[in-house]
Amino acid sequence: MATMESLIGLVNKIQRACTVLGDHGGQGMSLWEALPSVAVVGGQSSGKSSVLESIVGRDFLPRGSGIVTRRPLVLQLHKTESGAEYAEFLHAPKRRFTDFAAVRKEISDETDRITGKTKQISNIPIHLSIYSPNVVNLTLIDLPGLTKVAVEGQSDSIVEDIENMVRSYVEKPNCIILAITPANQDIATSDAIKIAREVDPSGERTFGVLTKLDLMDKGTNATEVLEGRAYRLQHPWVGIVNRSQADINKNVDMIVARRKEREYFETSPDYGHLASRMGSEYLAKLLSQHLELVIRQRIPSIIAMINKTIDELNAELDRIGRPVAADGGAQLYMILELCRAFDRVFKEHLD
Ligand code: GDP
Ligand code: NA
Ligand code: MG
Repeated sequence: MATMESLIGLVNKIQRACTVLGDHGGQGMSLWEALPSVAVVGGQSSGKSSVLESIVGRDFLPRGSGIVTRRPLVLQLHKTESGAEYAEFLHAPKRRFTDFAAVRKEISDETDRITGKTKQISNIPIHLSIYSPNVVNLTLIDLPGLTKVAVEGQSDSIVEDIENMVRSYVEKPNCIILAITPANQDIATSDAIKIAREVDPSGERTFGVLTKLDLMDKGTNATEVLEGRAYRLQHPWVGIVNRSQADINKNVDMIVARRKEREYFETSPDYGHLASRMGSEYLAKLLSQHLELVIRQRIPSIIAMINKTIDELNAELDRIGRPVAADGGAQLYMILELCRAFDRVFKEHLD
């Protein structure tokens, strides 16, 4: 187990190095693309933020109407044994956040710093690490919600820009897709399932998440989907009951919400028999195990990409001319050293 956990931690470190290098998996094959990741996709108001907050056990995401998530948020979760709970951003490494309202504000400010007040989107990710006794080791990428209409102040192209950004993540063969779909809408029209089907027709890297089970019309239920008879994917669907808007207004604590969700499934006449495989805590464990498995399978290709990056960095350093002064060159050196260390550690995992 200790070995497996450190694999997710290792990949986290490389992802941060990629961002420092300006590699966001944009053009062509990059180191970033060799790294398995979990991307959260869904339509606006499908419950993406709620699922993420439930997995973290804290509310910390900006809220509001319109397009709130305008940069990818790489959310790295680290379980602490000590009980310590805090957050850190890659862009502000010296600041340790213990107040999660301040985390929310920082995400929002950092989003605006790049996108201006124009409300456009940017593909430059924000990296947030959360250390907590209430999480499992897991990395999730929150993406802007798929939408059909631009709101005031946003250009018409934003609808397409968002879809292109989401597609650029989910089309990568190493991307695990967390497809958030509200149960109170027709699943056939789910934005998340639509894009997942397109890039992953066999459903081998898609995890279907059905939110808002509590909001379905009386007399209907989602057992057809949750038991795998409708909209079948390779992995079983996970049903979720998040906090309602009224719960959010009343500031219902996330840990209390998790307990209520558990009770909902345990006492449900429709879903009681599925209770052990439902809910956000189960989802987090399932994803953590799956991510570890996929990383383990990909170690040889990750090592190959690390070595390609080392070659490229060496070539770049030769071009600049060694020994290099401060600034750019020094940073390249640091990342080169980091890559060499990754190469060694990953090779140990091969045995
Ligand atoms: P996002 O836009 O996809 O991030 O969606 P949010 O997580 O912000 O949720 C949108 C609204 O739906 C909020 O008012 C949530 O309280 C509500 N909501 C989300 N999931 C559920 C759920 O499972 N049950 C209920 N009753 N409300 C939910
Ligand atoms: Na949707
Ligand atoms: Mg949201």
